[in-house]
Amino acid sequence: MPATIIVGTQWGDEGKGRFTDLFAKEMHLVVRYQGGHNAGHTLVVDGETFALQLIPSGVLYPHITPVIGNGVVVDPAVLLDEVAMLEARSIDCSRLKVSGNAHLILPYHQLIDRVTERHLGKNALGTTKRGIGPAYADKAARVGLRVQDLYDRDIFREKLALVLKDKAPMLAKVYNQLSPSVDEICARYLDDLAPRLQPYVADTINLVHDALEAGQHVLFEGAQATFLDLDHGTYPFVTSSNPVSGGACTGAGVGPLHINRVVGVAKAYVTRVGAGPFPTELTDEVGEAIVERGHEFGTNTGRKRRPGWFDAVMLRHAVRVNSLSEVAITKLDVLDAFDEVRVCVAYEVDGTRLDHLPDSQSVLHRVTPVYETFPGWGSDLTDATEPGHLPSRVHDYVTFLEQQVGVPIRLLGVGPGRDQYVQLSS
Ligand code: GDP
Ligand code: IMO
Ligand code: MG
Repeated sequence: MPATIIVGTQWGDEGKGRFTDLFAKEMHLVVRYQGGHNAGHTLVVDGETFALQLIPSGVLYPHITPVIGNGVVVDPAVLLDEVAMLEARSIDCSRLKVSGNAHLILPYHQLIDRVTERHLGKNALGTTKRGIGPAYADKAARVGLRVQDLYDRDIFREKLALVLKDKAPMLAKVYNQLSPSVDEICARYLDDLAPRLQPYVADTINLVHDALEAGQHVLFEGAQATFLDLDHGTYPFVTSSNPVSGGACTGAGVGPLHINRVVGVAKAYVTRVGAGPFPTELTDEVGEAIVERGHEFGTNTGRKRRPGWFDAVMLRHAVRVNSLSEVAITKLDVLDAFDEVRVCVAYEVDGTRLDHLPDSQSVLHRVTPVYETFPGWGSDLTDATEPGHLPSRVHDYVTFLEQQVGVPIRLLGVGPGRDQYVQLSS
């Protein structure tokens, strides 16, 4: 029963979607286990670009069953729009399955996300304003509504009325905002969205387990990343779910003994959207060059991503908290034009060298990176398809990364296209 998890090792947008798409060739099910439409996963196939938010990145293959697990927060309108967008491009989404236990994002979640960010002013987290945090907060507070509630009108209305009893006055009195009423939400969700979503709603737990028992290959596709994880990230500058590999267990209903491969995806540098500490951040022209060459603008919100050098301290931590069995590096080609390439191997603070992440975030804000510098390779990698095509300087750089990170690096992305990668034998 082979099960693989793909997980982001930095602050998101590492290229999880493109490697999920690549791995999906050999899979039967691709399962999203957390997050929502804050994710933006880009696939480039035969020159065509697909930007996915909620639907698992295996959907392009007719043999894949795409599954949205219980740990995901679902805005049904966004999901149905994504289905329509894909079907308009001749991608069949009829095999899509959505867990009835997944929580719903409701209009007041997005409203609360927007107004609380505004209220935070200069302390804003820079969320995607999709209602993700407020939806997970309601789940934890046990006042969330789930996909299955859409199919019990009385329960849906009753739960909604109870929640809005608190939220509507809070929105009105604290934020001067009008929440949609119970009737308005019921009309939209129960009469319009529920029947259109119904064909996709399924018992995803048994579906996944039946597949595993039949020896089928299941891929769990993480959204966001290790350092955006609610528990393991740079709190509070995080998302409200658990993108780490353990999140696949809770977010899809599989125990850890089912998992036999965990692939961490990392960019050859680092980017971050939104606020929060970033030890290797580059605010100079080198950073600008990375943004420009890497097209570092959010797939989802269009925001410019903050760039920085590869941070091996973060990666070593990601190896530990995710049990990574290997790492896949993306965007190596973006560094083609640089005279030198840097890797942060440790931090320094108050004259002390740190080989691991400090456990205090106040310290993380003050660390300075210790760099190793490599000469650039001065050649275009975008056509490389095998290790022999790579200059020796690239091999030296990747070997160094591998030593720093402590697990094998098996895949290198050298362009956004499905086939633009090099498989290493190590
Ligand atoms: P995800 O959220 O982790 O799936 O990543 P995104 O899709 O948000 O961001 C990654 C971006 O980098 C997308 O625009 C991809 O098409 C692109 N990309 C992925 N791998 C590579 C690569 O190896 N080289 C280049 N140049 N672009 C890549
Ligand atoms: P993928 O799956 C990059 C960031 C937001 C913000 C923080 C909290 O494409 O890698 P949220 O809306 O989740 O409450 O925002 O998390 N963020 C992402 N950054 N890639 C993502 O997803 C992200 N999803 C959320 O920018 O800093
Ligand atoms: Mg993304």
